[in-house]
Amino acid sequence: MADPAVEALRFIDPSCENPSSEQMQAIRIIHDEHRSLAAVLHGMLYLVHQIRDRGTRPDFGLLGAMTYYIDAFPERFHHPKEDQYLFRLLRMRRPDAALLLDRLESEHRAGAEKIRTLEQALARYQHGGAAEFSNFLAAVEAYAAFHWDHMRAEEAELLPLAEQHLSPGDWEAIDAAFLGHTDPMQGAKPGAEYEALFSRIVNLAPPPIGLGPAPPRA
Ligand SMILES: [Fe+2]
Ligand SMILES: [Fe+2]
Repeated sequence: MADPAVEALRFIDPSCENPSSEQMQAIRIIHDEHRSLAAVLHGMLYLVHQIRDRGTRPDFGLLGAMTYYIDAFPERFHHPKEDQYLFRLLRMRRPDAALLLDRLESEHRAGAEKIRTLEQALARYQHGGAAEFSNFLAAVEAYAAFHWDHMRAEEAELLPLAEQHLSPGDWEAIDAAFLGHTDPMQGAKPGAEYEALFSRIVNLAPPPIGLGPAPPRA
């Protein structure tokens, strides 16, 4: 028989009900999605540093595919699920997390603008040549640092709070969204398309970051 004290508490605070072991799949998916994004950011930093330090010739096809990925994957696929499900429910359960949630949501909005800066810097570099390289390098470094900080805050601060305070019902809704059962725009099909793009990047990228051919010197 259920403990009456727990039952009473459950009425006040749904967090005292523990999610089952099959729940909280969204946490694993968020970590996986962060790892994919971090790999592309790391790859892009590696490429620009090779151009700066070794005079490697830029592969604009690869840089363009990476820029597209770090624009579309978080903006259209990852952040909307965080905003609409994870952040919204945690805000309801933990009003004292408002400061952290405000910060993370405003970073989602700021990220969209920062990626436009990166796209413009890439276009200028591609069409304007070496004189535009330092601007592109700075944009890549700034975007990577910004997004790493954001993912670190989500993993170190937000996810532990969510694990502790969201109810099984909350996780049902969040898991469904992250598994792609809620919105076809964020579902399995787009997920598979981003995986295919990620594989294409890995196949184009030179060693040691990918499986593509070594780049010719400029
Ligand atoms: Fe986020
Ligand atoms: Fe995230």
